[in-house]
Amino acid sequence: MSRSPQRKPIHELVPSAKRLIQSLREVGYDFVHAVADIVDNSVEANASRVAIEMRFDGEDSWVRIADNGTGMSGSTITEAMRFGTQREYKAHEMGRFGLGLKTASLSQCSRLTVASRTNRQARRIEVRQWDLEHIKATDRWEIIDIASSERPEIIVEPLKDAVGTVVLWEQLDRVITYRVPWGDRARSSFFRLAEELELHLAMVFHRFLSEEARRRKRLKITLNGNDLEPWDPYARDEKGTVRLPTIQIDVSGDDGTGLVAYTPYVLPSQERFSSLKAFNRCAGPGKWNFQQGFYIYRADRMIQSGGWCRMRTSDEHTKLARVALDFWPDLDSAFEVNVAKARVTLPADLRSQLKPHVEDLVKRARKAYAPARSRSDSLSGPNGSAVRTVICATPPDSDLEQHFEQARRGIDEKPATYQLSDTPARKLGLVLESAAQKAGEVHALNKIKRILKADDPEAAQEIGW
Ligand SMILES: Nc1ncnc2c1ncn2[C@@H]1O[C@H](COP(=O)(O)OP(=O)(O)O)[C@@H](O)[C@H]1O
Ligand SMILES: [Mg+2]
Repeated sequence: MSRSPQRKPIHELVPSAKRLIQSLREVGYDFVHAVADIVDNSVEANASRVAIEMRFDGEDSWVRIADNGTGMSGSTITEAMRFGTQREYKAHEMGRFGLGLKTASLSQCSRLTVASRTNRQARRIEVRQWDLEHIKATDRWEIIDIASSERPEIIVEPLKDAVGTVVLWEQLDRVITYRVPWGDRARSSFFRLAEELELHLAMVFHRFLSEEARRRKRLKITLNGNDLEPWDPYARDEKGTVRLPTIQIDVSGDDGTGLVAYTPYVLPSQERFSSLKAFNRCAGPGKWNFQQGFYIYRADRMIQSGGWCRMRTSDEHTKLARVALDFWPDLDSAFEVNVAKARVTLPADLRSQLKPHVEDLVKRARKAYAPARSRSDSLSGPNGSAVRTVICATPPDSDLEQHFEQARRGIDEKPATYQLSDTPARKLGLVLESAAQKAGEVHALNKIKRILKADDPEAAQEIGW
């Protein structure tokens, strides 16, 4: 016990490192959100290129995110490794809590190594490491300063001729969770994750990848050597997409008042898309029904993709409605942004101001959807033969929540349907889906879909999976 200047008795309690780090691993990241948080740091460091490598090697698998940003000096990298980095932030910066680098990384791996170089002329590379084995053994908040002779090639190789920062995740105990880490199941789940990551990053950084972000030059992201193509939620290069006027709304937060921009779009129905391929690509990672609603951007980086933020339920008939909602980090408190930047809440005031606009949009989206979907009848095929076109029977409103919940869990019981415009491959996919439903084997089919998507993405896309 010691005395403060005011002579009040105090006890300094340093948290138990091994206990608290374990809890911090659980702050709510999944793999794709964790990688996106590391890429945020690269964007903030002014990188124009981020190269992500995912290497499967059983227990020795690793994930590496290398950028060509400003890099960090010795003292900066040490401070960057602190839980709760101490530094000043500008109002528009994406970083805020000083935690992402550590919590995102350690939510996926138990060894995080960061290397950085700030000067092309000087060869000096700084390397620091959090190793949970070391923390467990010492129960101290200690990082390891890795000596030049002990640095593995994979950490320094991207910095040989360049400045920037490399983040390496090893001991992927939260990624490779199979009993046999080098088995086929571990391998295919690792590749599925890579695929999921590609879709996620193409979506959340689409404005950066297409040079639309307001404060940044173009960003190029590669995953295992392949360039990521931006995914535009609004299909703006489709002739049939309707963009409605942007509305600016004042919202107050703890740091004063800020503007939120609401830009609604009605996308074309399947028949009005330029191609089936374009329609399927526009479906997005969660597919059409789950991708309707709000796309919320914080400083141009998407932090929510689809869903109506409890303003209404998702509905097959309104799936063509998508909205860009933009705010800047000075409204973080109003939107209740969480550490993983994976969840926000719409401020009550904004919600009530948006209500009439959302109602108007939904009405238009229903109209755009209706012409093709309100009939169930027999139509003539290309050679005049009668072709049966089976149209989705959409459940009544009260059943929708349950319907979508079932679909989410892969037990969608509505009959598989196809239309005249479907390709033979797509029809085959739908027939298989229908047969799987009848056989009660939807889960098995979903597994098959995932494997096919990982092994032969083109074939999966043709089938519409
Ligand atoms: N790729 C990077 N390039 C340069 N600096 C970085 C990089 N990653 C992290 N940093 C530094 O480390 C600090 C801590 O990062 P992080 O833990 O993600 O918290 P936050 O982003 O909220 O500040 C950042 O503020 C930045 O100064
Ligand atoms: Mg960060």
